[in-house]
Amino acid sequence: MSNLIKPNEFARRRRDLMSLMVPNSIAIIAAAPERIRSNDTEYRYRQNSDFYYLTGFNEPEAVLALIPGRRQGQFILFCRDRDPAREIWDGYRAGPQGVVDHYGADDAFPIGDIDEILPGLIEGRERVYYCVGKEPDFDRQLMEWVNTIRARARAGAIPPAEFVDLDHLVHEMRLFKSAAELKVMARSGKIAARAHCRAMEVCKPGLFEYQLQAEIEHEFAMAGAEFPAYSSIVGGGANGCILHYIENRAVLNDGDLVLIDAGCEYQGYASDITRTFPVNGRFSPEQKVLYNIVLEAQYAAIDAVRAGNHWNEPHDATVQVITEGLVDAGLLKGKVADLIEAGAYRDFYMHRAGHWLGMDVHDAGDYKVDHQWRLLEPGMVMTVEPGLYVAPDNANVAEKWRGIGIRIEDNVAITNRGTEILTSEVPKSIDDIQALMAS
Ligand code: GLY
Ligand code: MN
Ligand code: MN
Repeated sequence: MSNLIKPNEFARRRRDLMSLMVPNSIAIIAAAPERIRSNDTEYRYRQNSDFYYLTGFNEPEAVLALIPGRRQGQFILFCRDRDPAREIWDGYRAGPQGVVDHYGADDAFPIGDIDEILPGLIEGRERVYYCVGKEPDFDRQLMEWVNTIRARARAGAIPPAEFVDLDHLVHEMRLFKSAAELKVMARSGKIAARAHCRAMEVCKPGLFEYQLQAEIEHEFAMAGAEFPAYSSIVGGGANGCILHYIENRAVLNDGDLVLIDAGCEYQGYASDITRTFPVNGRFSPEQKVLYNIVLEAQYAAIDAVRAGNHWNEPHDATVQVITEGLVDAGLLKGKVADLIEAGAYRDFYMHRAGHWLGMDVHDAGDYKVDHQWRLLEPGMVMTVEPGLYVAPDNANVAEKWRGIGIRIEDNVAITNRGTEILTSEVPKSIDDIQALMAS
């Protein structure tokens, strides 16, 4: 499918960012570096999300400069030169002329000339916005450019006086998804939902965890997703209690649950789904009890995802339902209010109920504003993912509960019309899961 985020949207983002910058300033963002996987082979390239958000440009060795109000051009890109010999090995490069013609740059230069040109663009601007302190190489390089200007101070060069973190401005923009972004995310969610259905359909005792991973990732790739959005988690039995279990090497046993947390990246946007289901297609009585606690907690949290509620309300809802459920089932003893106060649920539920979702699976955006949980607003997309994990060596509970790990995760968009679950096409009630697995 052709790219759903059009060039005019990238242009609008740059305009919006420049309107937030103070006069006489410059913003500088570097493309992600290529990273070595082993010896001389690299990981598949993944662009820096902020850089891509503002350019749509997917090559390494590039630097973006935005200079609001600069008459000769506000959007400058440094990029690799065309190189017929390298392009035979590594593929097409746009080159400076290409980024002007196809990416809307006002001006473009070879990356090899950046040390000569960028200090001149920085000079005389009072403020530099950049990503402070996350990429040591880039921090050092920026200071070298600034020092080039300082060295010419006696000749009249004026170095910038302020260095301000750019992340906050860009991430606040990224937190609010446009109509086109919501469309891409809905597609990403649908693909991931389809993949989880496929895993349920083929699952049976004796398969290995990595084989379910392969089924899931096959579906991602066949639908045109560029990547899994993170390392897929496929944990059978007690492996489901390891929150970031990515070994995926074990055999799936009759009578166990399997927890799959996997999502794809489609046109640059992540989905993030977790489902937990019985390897043999039928939940045991204990599995049913704990599963329904998590499911009720997830429904309660989704119900709390609405414009005007604050960020922590969905989480609070999960804590309430999970604590009540654990008391009812006999895994916790005491009064619900006291147990919540004491955080007793944390032995079984030790993570938060969700996170922002977007270009990054744990997406950009503040969770607090002025030290208060921020209010939910249309355009935000988040996950809702309560879980229950009974450690296999938890001697405080009856043996029948031990080693059960359950998480249920969906992706929820807040829109002007209410909320939309982007991942609803994979079943999650016990009846629906059992029906799909029996079919
Ligand atoms: N798979 C990462 C998460 O669910 O947050
Ligand atoms: Mn997840
Ligand atoms: Mn998640």
